[in-house]
Amino acid sequence: MYVCLCNPFTDKDLDNVLKDENVRKKTSDVYQACSGGEKPCCGTCICEVRDRVNKHNEKTLALAAE
Ligand code: FES
Repeated sequence: MYVCLCNPFTDKDLDNVLKDENVRKKTSDVYQACSGGEKPCCGTCICEVRDRVNKHNEKTLALAAE
């Protein structure tokens, strides 16, 4: 499923960038990694990207706390 249509990338691209559970991520870095270095245009997808990054970072924190 496409997450961003302006600089097209999919949920699978997001999964690939977020696959390392030991490293916290920033939304802007994840977006640029998925879009090939482009910046967001309309911003419609940013909530979805941010939600995915926040979930990833929560998992990372939980693993660090164990
Ligand atoms: S849909 Fe991602 S920037 Fe427009």
